[in-house]
Amino acid sequence: MPQLAARMGRAKPSAIMLVAEKAKQLKAAGRDIISFSIGVPNFLPGPHVYEAARKALEHDSGQYGSNRGPDALLDAFLRHLEGSGLSGFTRRNLATGIGAKHILYNLAEALLDPGDVIVFPTPYWTTYLDIAEILEANVRALPCPSTQDYKLTPAQLDAALPGAKVFLFNNPSNPTGMVYSKHEIAALADVLVRHPDVWIICDDIYNRMVFDGIGYHNFVNARPELRDRVINVDSLSKTYGMPGWRVGFIAGPEVVAQAMVTLNSNHITNVPEVVTAAAIAALDGPQDVPEQKNAEFAAKRDLVYAALTSIPGVVCPRPQGAFYAFPDISCAFGKSHAGTRIDSDVDFCNALLEAKGVACVPGSAFGEPRALRISYTCPTAQLEPGLARIRDFFAELA
Ligand SMILES: Cc1ncc(COP(=O)(O)O)c(C=O)c1O
Repeated sequence: MPQLAARMGRAKPSAIMLVAEKAKQLKAAGRDIISFSIGVPNFLPGPHVYEAARKALEHDSGQYGSNRGPDALLDAFLRHLEGSGLSGFTRRNLATGIGAKHILYNLAEALLDPGDVIVFPTPYWTTYLDIAEILEANVRALPCPSTQDYKLTPAQLDAALPGAKVFLFNNPSNPTGMVYSKHEIAALADVLVRHPDVWIICDDIYNRMVFDGIGYHNFVNARPELRDRVINVDSLSKTYGMPGWRVGFIAGPEVVAQAMVTLNSNHITNVPEVVTAAAIAALDGPQDVPEQKNAEFAAKRDLVYAALTSIPGVVCPRPQGAFYAFPDISCAFGKSHAGTRIDSDVDFCNALLEAKGVACVPGSAFGEPRALRISYTCPTAQLEPGLARIRDFFAELA
């Protein structure tokens, strides 16, 4: 029998999906399961988005579309960027794709040859590692434990960049929910200026989900001379409650945007017309849904943070964005729950799911095996009992 390509030996199914699958099976078997595992925003876009999609269907041209994206979508994205404080781009700086995941994969294809070094902080979003491994890049993952609030320091970055091709940065962070302040971004930007041969990918898809008034900050605003190396990645998935619509963007140097257009021309061709219409409506329409959801997520963050930090031994830096918390639960290692020994984050998550019906993602999926990820987008009516079950689980450890 013929063999799959060697790269498929390096490709792994998403660890996050594996937990979600197990939780789904237990639920189907009649168990009362509360899922904190999947990073979906859990709300739908406003009616104007569906209306725009319906209208587009009625006038569907039936044609292939632009590889970069239609002008109307690019212009809507330019206005959206301005709203996030990012100005000075034209259509030629932009490209679209089937969600940020596709965009990130294409960026890696466009920027990294086999053996090139990609640098990113740990904890990282799982897919970063998977994409790098599939494409045979060398990963330099920089450990940022809970003791440094899961944040990268300028000294760490400075030491890691010599010889690197790409620095991949995610702010606000999945899985930690941490957000870099204006001052922290400026300090990292100062380091980046000193390493002119490195591309900088900013996966900032949660940039509208920032709490406590700290705001979203970008390297280009801190040091404008970085503009010809910074590639901003954005997506409609989280901000507008549209993960299944699959719309992602980049805004960056023309040469990179053009490379993405070339890749699109060889696989997806274009974002579908109906999806495009929905995306324009979301970007240009009333922003009350994302704004209201942001306030709701901030309130839920307060619940989660209060519950986790009330558990003796658990360390949880206070998240300030996205909808994740990432507690260090290593105090449980070496203990047992109802006779089940816990020696790792995976043991912990399995025992918690079996005993209490609460699904979380083991931190090792994000390169930090002392922690677990809680995605807190579920209704408050589930969030509170879920947190209580986690507290009970800890109290029952022996
Ligand atoms: C940090 C980060 N980047 C990118 C993505 C991919 O988003 P999209 O739905 O646009 O593919 C996700 C989704 O969870 C994410 O958390």
